[in-house]
Amino acid sequence: MGDENILPYPYEFYDLSDEEKSLNDKLHNYPYELARLGPKGYIVTKAFKKDAANIYNLPLRSSDIFVTTYQRSGTTWTQELVWLLASDLNYEKALTVPLIERYSFLEMFMFMPDAGLESFMKVVSQNNENFNKETTMQMVEWLRTPVTRNLASRPSPRFIKSHLPMSLLPPKVLDTAKMVYVARDPRDVAVSFYHHTRLFMHTGFKETFKQFWHLFCESLLVLTPFFEHIKEAWEKRHDPNMLFLFYEDLLKDLPAAVKRVADFLGKKLDDAQTAALCDHLSIENFKKNKAVNFEELRGLGMFAKDEVFIRKGKAGGWRDYFDEEMTQQAENWIEDNLKNTDLRFPTVK
Ligand code: A3P
Repeated sequence: MGDENILPYPYEFYDLSDEEKSLNDKLHNYPYELARLGPKGYIVTKAFKKDAANIYNLPLRSSDIFVTTYQRSGTTWTQELVWLLASDLNYEKALTVPLIERYSFLEMFMFMPDAGLESFMKVVSQNNENFNKETTMQMVEWLRTPVTRNLASRPSPRFIKSHLPMSLLPPKVLDTAKMVYVARDPRDVAVSFYHHTRLFMHTGFKETFKQFWHLFCESLLVLTPFFEHIKEAWEKRHDPNMLFLFYEDLLKDLPAAVKRVADFLGKKLDDAQTAALCDHLSIENFKKNKAVNFEELRGLGMFAKDEVFIRKGKAGGWRDYFDEEMTQQAENWIEDNLKNTDLRFPTVK
């Protein structure tokens, strides 16, 4: 391929303001530095810079299937559904090969420590009685190698997971590939994300949920601003290569959601196959399924002992975390952000 096909990277990286930095430093323990990117100011880690242009220019195939979300919106659940539908319901492989290997995570590398590697190793070693430096480093190297380097050699169909907003993905992604985008009530996303940052030992968020919520609303967490992310995908929802779903719709009627995804992928399931797939995807079975709950990272000591990756799997759990003031503030924040759009969350009145 000649250089004429390479698009120049259109966005600038810039530093957080001093005030933003100090707030973030006070509340966070990240072993990496954050930056803002592009006109919407999406927060990324500085490591993203090394592969941003390759992602933007990723050569695509018509058989590629993206699952894209703002994190903690039901990505893993949807990935497993998509993968099984597109893989002739190969449960044997699904249960034995970790999802992280079956589904390439486009920007995984940016969540791995670069400069902060030493502190990362220290935290992980203290959390793992059987700590082995070599095995841990091998995993870290694998996780922090951009997947754009090996996607060309992957067989079709390629399965690609991303938490990036549409504007940071290849601009013509929907002209070629298919995408399932999942959105979720931001209050439940925030609660789930809070637990997620406590789950990962190296990002271990030690402050209150209220402080975390503040960072989320102020667009100081990775890949915020949240509403910009959702709206970019919402604008593309009528594209024939885009299927826009809400997490809450999957929860409400999983067989119907399975049918929608199957239709989108051109697959047909009979009733028994649908029932078996829904059973495989149930939260109870998912919790026990080592191939989807990132047990390999727990084994290395990367996970806190009192947190899990597949957690409650419910809608509306946020009510247990929000006081009256936060509830009101969340309502105003959501209302403000939905003013100039017809985007509506099923759980937001
Ligand atoms: P909670 O933390 O609210 O329970 P992601 O995969 O994008 O990180 O999303 C994680 C969220 O999806 C978590 O939400 C998790 O429990 C939920 N989830 C994962 N598997 C699920 C399933 N089979 N059914 C319902 N929810 C599921």
